[in-house]
Amino acid sequence: MPSDMPALARDRVRLPADTVYLCGNSLGPLAEGVAAAMRQAVEVDWQGKIVRAWNEAGWHAAPARVGDRLARLIGAGAGEVIVADSTSVNLFKLLTVGLRLRPGRRVIVVEESDFPTDVYIADGVARTLGAEVRRIAPDGLDAALADDVAIVALSQVNYRTGRRRDIAAVTARVQAMGALMLWDLCHSTGAIAVDLNAANADFAVGCGYKYLNGGPGAPAYVFAARRHHDAIDQPLTGWHGHAASFAFSPDYSPAPGIARFLCGTAPQLSLIALEAALAAFDGIDVAALERRAGQLTGLFIDLYDRDLAGRGFGLVTPRAAGERGAQVSLTHAEGYAIVQALIADGVVGDFRAPDVLRFGLAPLYVSGADVAAAAARLADIVDSGRYRDPRFRQRQAVT
Ligand SMILES: Cc1ncc(COP(=O)(O)O)c(C=O)c1O
Repeated sequence: MPSDMPALARDRVRLPADTVYLCGNSLGPLAEGVAAAMRQAVEVDWQGKIVRAWNEAGWHAAPARVGDRLARLIGAGAGEVIVADSTSVNLFKLLTVGLRLRPGRRVIVVEESDFPTDVYIADGVARTLGAEVRRIAPDGLDAALADDVAIVALSQVNYRTGRRRDIAAVTARVQAMGALMLWDLCHSTGAIAVDLNAANADFAVGCGYKYLNGGPGAPAYVFAARRHHDAIDQPLTGWHGHAASFAFSPDYSPAPGIARFLCGTAPQLSLIALEAALAAFDGIDVAALERRAGQLTGLFIDLYDRDLAGRGFGLVTPRAAGERGAQVSLTHAEGYAIVQALIADGVVGDFRAPDVLRFGLAPLYVSGADVAAAAARLADIVDSGRYRDPRFRQRQAVT
């Protein structure tokens, strides 16, 4: 049970002193270089160039440029990824695209216990287009696959349990039934290996603010396999996705390639923060992220077996390294109060109702010593009963 593993690049993020940060699966920390990039964008480009910055500071080209920069982290090629909007909005675009690419098939398959926005958006798309949503249990995919399914949308890593799906195997099963496969990579990108093209995936979405450290509300991204580009009929036909945005034609004509997934003006400052944050991954390949994530989560599970299982905690996350993401989730009847007491001790995790304690072990900046400290604190908080303090029971808006 070696806990002396250093993080892969701890010096590339700025964390508050005396903080063990295990919440990068919610909001990543400030990456080195982001503050300087923001100062440049605000005080030099915006202040000094004002509207000229769209051309002269490369703002207009940023969605495609940043998409290309993160493509290697998800096994995509140049021109297959673009940064735009939020994950929810991109799910709306891609689910609609999927139904339009499979006329005659009217079903979207989603996992009931997936992140709620995925299910809500599928319901919204179905209502808009007169389609149907088939909700499945985590192991219910095969039974749900029939010749009426247009598109299946699943998370690679479940936000609550940390359970991982096999992208290549699932994509093949879905495509064998004639349907399209859309992956939600919010809990994967920047934390574990993802290889969309090796898996022949059709579409993917992911967010910028978790393991990519793009900052609160960072824009999300869209992946579409090149083979689909010309046929894609994206529903949010805004001017930035037009073939010639600045021709101001009265009629819409989609841009060639992945750029047709753009809609309106990008949140430029957030996009610049995300671009700067991605530099933290320079020189680090996804195989190294994958290996270290497996070691860190394995260490946490060993410590759970030794020190936490007997203290009222349960293990939610699968034990096989290939079946989990970079996250370990525990249960405890007093989970909320325990997480609050833990945060007060400088170890930041989070809580998901009704009883799940989540720990995101971002391999970029989390070390084995961090994991050992978290497990030791958890045991101590239970033994001391410190979590019973009333201040740890007051529910905050964000848990
Ligand atoms: C798996 C998953 N999908 C989608 C979202 C929502 O993304 P957004 O708020 O960017 O639309 C989240 C947010 O945590 C998530 O975990």
